Amino acid sequence: MTEPSVDLRENGMVVALPGGAAYFNYYWLRDASLDCFDPQTLERVFDCSALPTPPRASTARIEGEMLVIAWQGEGQVSEVPLALLREVQETGRPVDPAALPRKLWYGDHLPEILRISQQAVLTSDAGRATLTRALIEEGIAFVTDMAGDDDSLPRLVNAIGPITPSAEGLFFDVRVEIAPTNLAFTAGPLEMHTDLPGEETAPGVQFLHCMANTVEGGQSLFLDGAAAAMALKAEDPEAFELLAGYDIPFFYRHDNWDYRAHQRVIETDVDGAVTGVTISQHLQDYMDLPQSLLDRYYPAFVRFIRMMQEDRFVIRYRSQPGTCVVFDNHRIVHGREGYVADSGHRHLRGCYTDRGALRSTYRVLARRGFTGAAAEGDRVVA
Ligand SMILES: [Fe+2]
Repeated sequence: MTEPSVDLRENGMVVALPGGAAYFNYYWLRDASLDCFDPQTLERVFDCSALPTPPRASTARIEGEMLVIAWQGEGQVSEVPLALLREVQETGRPVDPAALPRKLWYGDHLPEILRISQQAVLTSDAGRATLTRALIEEGIAFVTDMAGDDDSLPRLVNAIGPITPSAEGLFFDVRVEIAPTNLAFTAGPLEMHTDLPGEETAPGVQFLHCMANTVEGGQSLFLDGAAAAMALKAEDPEAFELLAGYDIPFFYRHDNWDYRAHQRVIETDVDGAVTGVTISQHLQDYMDLPQSLLDRYYPAFVRFIRMMQEDRFVIRYRSQPGTCVVFDNHRIVHGREGYVADSGHRHLRGCYTDRGALRSTYRVLARRGFTGAAAEGDRVVA
């Protein structure tokens, strides 16, 4: 029986759903049919470009929780879950467990940052869910009680995703070096930055494991770049549009490498929401926007850099040996105050994984029931 709640049109159909009538394109429905996916590999095995003519429904009806469609010129009937149609009607896409709203934070946030033991992350799905959720929502977390052996950091990283190499290799050591390749490897202050924007895909999630810190000074500085960007949007919308609208050049250059890439200072997603920032004055190349555009771009750029030095955004703390700070390198801007090089020993070991791996891990955990939500009682804090 054909339900009156389905109305066939030329290029698609209108389906009556609990949230109201919604239009779906025939190509989209043909592509969304359950038979398009291999049950074993879960990959798409249907190719809409292989159809001799554009897909067109001959009949469609709702049966239980399925929209059942017969296609013109095709022998088979296909099914599309109504639950999927409802999700798409609501947000334009299927539900993504990792699309958690960002919790913007400010200069008073230090006591609120998640602190979780390495053991809790390595030995329980609840611990991993708690850490990955905090990294998605807040972009930063502390992993405490790190084991001191050489494999300690990779064990932690691998709980979230594979290590992604940079020009420095799989790991980098932040300490004073005789012939430094980066200002980080000196005792000088390090202005607020995100790492390695000169790489085409700048590192996604950064780990900094504090191995030793007995020097005078050298406070670590962090801020939420998404919070700063949203403040700029409220206080100077024109500046925000410039920084979110144009790519600028960055580099990473030394004897054996010469990386160059363009990035946007304010990063937005497909919906236009702010997802992060990219900033690094010590790795910023010669601006190559039209000179007349720079008349407007530079003042906006300078205003944003100055904002990121304001106390309302910045947290300061002394890195503690045995603690690893983990943060989203495309959102959390970090820096360091200078320190007295011969006053002691300061050594942070770092490496990266990517944001896609972080979200992938969280989705898998959420699918198993570990959401990392404090209210659900599976937040493990040590
Ligand atoms: Fe850095």
